[in-house]
Amino acid sequence: MARREIRSAAARLVHRLQGRSPIAASGRGPDSALTEVLGPYVPSDHSRQINAGYYIDRLMTATPRPERVLDLGCGDGGTVDDFRRHHPDVDWVGVDIDDSQAAHLERRSDATFVIYDGLVVPFPDESFDLVFSRQVLEHVPDPLGHLRQIQRVLRPGGALIGSTSQLEPYHARSYWNYTVFGFVSLCTDAGLVVEEIRPGLDGITLTMRSFLGRPPEFSRWWRDESPLNEMIDDWGRQTRASVARINLRKLAFAGQFVFLVRRPA
Ligand SMILES: C[S@@+](CC[C@H](N)C(=O)[O-])C[C@H]1O[C@@H](n2cnc3c(N)ncnc32)[C@H](O)[C@@H]1O
Repeated sequence: MARREIRSAAARLVHRLQGRSPIAASGRGPDSALTEVLGPYVPSDHSRQINAGYYIDRLMTATPRPERVLDLGCGDGGTVDDFRRHHPDVDWVGVDIDDSQAAHLERRSDATFVIYDGLVVPFPDESFDLVFSRQVLEHVPDPLGHLRQIQRVLRPGGALIGSTSQLEPYHARSYWNYTVFGFVSLCTDAGLVVEEIRPGLDGITLTMRSFLGRPPEFSRWWRDESPLNEMIDDWGRQTRASVARINLRKLAFAGQFVFLVRRPA
């Protein structure tokens, strides 16, 4: 099948998905089962799809705001601008492995980058107010060890924010996908407390993007509500579902999810 034909087939599929009625509200889907285990972590203020930048904006405008920030698995270090936009003098450090696919990108010269062995974060205990780690956890061979290192370098009361994959096809030496429940269990075992989990773009859109060879048109669905998430919003309106229930349904089918976690004070 030619690439153009695959694309138009995908466009038809997305169109058809959007035209369909949402899943019956009475059905006991995975979101009902998730209610029992994820209730405390799922917010009820709004049910918008977000990305990890949401928590940068929220924590960097809080009082007191973080002064010392670690971006673990920083890639080309693009987030330094997101932090400096709120706090021009923020002490931002980017850490990544030497053999990173992203390390082949040119790294900027106006920030501190440190290469490490991929296991032991080369900073003393309690060095950072905030650890940011976006789409990294699915690439580390020892996720619990990785989270324990984050717990160690965070000051008590400090936050871990970022995102990871739940329903995402293999990419860039990825080892794992996490269910939201599995992620909460790992954080607990590492001595961290999950405060919030919110949905990112949905798993069907993320899968189609991979299937079609990452066409640039799909990038907008990291910003805008993605097609299955829109369907879930329709379902929520039709059934008058609570905000938390809509969040749970989006989380049940999320390609990626976004988290706010803390080291207890
Ligand atoms: C999908 S990229 C995300 C890059 C960046 N966080 C971003 O959001 O643009 C995954 C990153 O994880 C890094 N990575 C892989 N193994 C790692 C490890 N053991 N520790 C820290 N980072 C790792 C990769 O080098 C790469 O930069």
